[in-house]
Amino acid sequence: MFCLFQFLDCLISGASSGLGLETTRALALRGVHVIMAVRNTDAGRNVKEEILKEIPMAKIDVMELDLSSMASVRKFASEYNSSGRPLHILINNAGVMATPFMLSKDNIEMQFATNHLGHFLLTNLLLETMKKTTREGNKEGRIVNLSSEAHRFAYTEGIRFDKIHDESGLTVKIQDLYSVEQDANRGPVAGGMIRIHCLKASIGSWIMWVRSYYL
Ligand SMILES: NC(=O)c1ccc[n+]([C@@H]2O[C@H](COP(=O)([O-])OP(=O)(O)OC[C@H]3O[C@@H](n4cnc5c(N)ncnc54)[C@H](OP(=O)(O)O)[C@@H]3O)[C@@H](O)[C@H]2O)c1
Repeated sequence: MFCLFQFLDCLISGASSGLGLETTRALALRGVHVIMAVRNTDAGRNVKEEILKEIPMAKIDVMELDLSSMASVRKFASEYNSSGRPLHILINNAGVMATPFMLSKDNIEMQFATNHLGHFLLTNLLLETMKKTTREGNKEGRIVNLSSEAHRFAYTEGIRFDKIHDESGLTVKIQDLYSVEQDANRGPVAGGMIRIHCLKASIGSWIMWVRSYYL
């Protein structure tokens, strides 16, 4: 089924498996041009090939992005922005959960670096492209942050920034991040041009959400 969606460009992080993969397939089926931002490009290309067998007209590109590395995020954003592509929808989907304590290349706790800082930097670096897209198309942009029911179990006082590198309590820390993402579920930003949504992981709910705005 191809329709109005075919004029949309959507970037999905962590698109080579799980919810990101299914989101890629669902949006491609509706004609959206999907940019799969993945750390393993071979896996990403395999997913793309599988989807193309099912949906030969799917428009999918695979680009390399390691959210745990700020250098990789900057490189990715620079390539995306200089490509001149529009960007209507950004889905911050990738994530790691309950990993043992480890540090990223930038010496930041891995879950915090990947799930939070990487997406924060990515979003900020792509914001001008999104604003330009909304201005030229006269259509609100969308940023979607994947969260979880786990946000209900976060510390009431919010993220303990002074304890990010404590090896204990990692699970609670990830719940704190989900909690922050829930707080980011708010109305228009960037002068009313872009709307930010936060979703507790549920594929059906956000596909409904995309449809409600773009049909
Ligand atoms: N499924 C659920 O029930 C559930 C519940 C609560 C919250 N969530 C949230 O929903 C999102 C998707 O969950 P999921 O179940 O689909 O997870 P998943 O199957 O584990 O997929 C996560 C994706 O993130 C990618 N990723 C991990 N680290 C990355 C990095 N440094 N840079 C770029 N990509 C990276 C993974 O890539 P690789 O394939 O290379 O590892 C993978 O494609 C996550 O943010 C998760 O926290 C899901």
